[in-house]
Order: sequence, then C-alpha cells, then structure tokens
Amino acid sequence: MPNTPRIFAIIPAAGQGTRMGDALPKQYLPLAGRPMMFHSLEALAAVGRIDHVIAVLSPLDRHWGAHDWSAFPEKIEALFAGGATRGRSVANALELLETRAQPDDWVLVHDAARPCIAKALVEQFLDEIDDDPVGGLLAMPLADTLKRAEPALMRVAETIPRDGLWRAQTPQMFRYAVLRRALERLPDATDEAQAVEALGQMPRVVQGENANIKVTFAEDLPIAEMILARKGGVPL
Ligand code: CTP
Ligand code: MG
Repeated sequence: MPNTPRIFAIIPAAGQGTRMGDALPKQYLPLAGRPMMFHSLEALAAVGRIDHVIAVLSPLDRHWGAHDWSAFPEKIEALFAGGATRGRSVANALELLETRAQPDDWVLVHDAARPCIAKALVEQFLDEIDDDPVGGLLAMPLADTLKRAEPALMRVAETIPRDGLWRAQTPQMFRYAVLRRALERLPDATDEAQAVEALGQMPRVVQGENANIKVTFAEDLPIAEMILARKGGVPL
C-alpha cells in the first residue's frame, strides 16, 4: 500500500518588494514585532499535517541570518534558491526537493507576503483539498464592480460581469510531480494554479478570507498590523 502523501509547504520569499518602495525586501519589514515572513512561517509550522516548511530566499539574501528563527520547530528550513520570478523561485525549490519528495506528495505554496493567514484556514483548506485529484487554491469572490479602463485615457471602456470571477490567494496546493511539470512549462505563471491550468487541469476553488491579504503597498502594512493584532486577541 502506498504511503500517505506528505505535505511540503513552500514559502516564496525571494522578491524585492518593488511596489512597497522600501530598501528592505518587504518580507523582512517589521510587522507586529516580527519580520513579515515570520507570521507566514509560524502559521504553517503550527499545522500538524504539514511536514516541512521551506522558505525560498534570494541567493543574495543578507537578512535571513540576522533574525532569530529559533522559536520554530525543526521542520522549518531556508533554501537560498530564489529565481527571477515567483514561479521560478518555487520551481527551483521543487528541483532541490527531488530526492526528498515523492511524486504524489503535496506541495502547498504560500506567499511570505500573506502574513495574516490563519492556521484554522490552512487546516480547512487541507480538509477540502487533500483528497482532490487535482489540488486547488484559496480565492475570494469579487465584491466590487469590475471596470476595464483605457490606460492612456483613464476612462472606463467597459464593465465586466463579475459572475464566476475570483481573486486568487494562497495557499495553493498540488501534487509534487504535477506542479514541477507545470512550472517547468510555465515558469512565469503568476500563481501555481495558472501553471496547472495550462496542463489542462481544473484546480479546485476553496473560499478564503478577506483577512488573508497580500501585503503589496505601504498602505497595506497598517491593515496587516490590525489583522494580526486581532488574531493575537488584542481588540481593534
Ligand atoms: N517572490 C519570490 N521570488 C521572486 C519574486 C517574488 O519568491 N522572484 C515572492 C515574494 O517574496 C512574495 C511572493 O513571491 O512573498 C509574492 O510576490 P509579490 O507580492 O509580487 O512580492 P515581490 O515580487 O517581492 O513584490 P513586487 O512585485 O512589488 O516587487
Ligand atoms: Mg512581484
């Protein structure tokens, strides 16, 4: 009988944070008293079913070693293997896992830049996905009316019906062999699901939470602080 598939969590954290506009890559910016990515690592490491949590850092990263990660269990490790795009960072990590991962093991990918993920939401996601033949992602239904604007004019050209439209979040989870093949074929996919879709598969959508924001711009930092403070039991 085959072994139960294990779950490897990969946290891409090799970006520059250009849109944040800070010299320090955003995954290391202080957030609720910790570097931002601490919170992402902490949430995933707390999930019992996840066997390994692997941060993918830039080969030039000079910040990881300056922080104290000793609070974490041994299942956390850092790979200085980031690539030019998010997809390439994940693909590089998958290549390095070749001797450790079985084809059917799960790979859960979660952005360092989504530090507000709740452990309970990860567990709910795993419950929904871990018997799925394809795998899937967290996503939110669009709430706002969607417009396409002419970029040069800043005028609305059309309203796009939002039925069936979702904003993709992370975590996203697929089988090791499938994800590796998918990202080898489409390394510049902006998320794992896009690469898997390009193989002709249909990833499962699991509703996420608005609190699972991606910290992209400086204005997102205080919002993330508030969400983390509330998770910690401090009233807003
Ligand atoms: N990421 C990565 N390798 C890259 C680019 C991004 O591992 N070459 C990671 C980021 O560190 C982040 C996640 O992918 O955790 C999502 O990317 P994004 O929010 O776009 O972060 P950055 O690319 O760092 O930001 P920006 O696009 O503003 O430069
Ligand atoms: Mg980016």
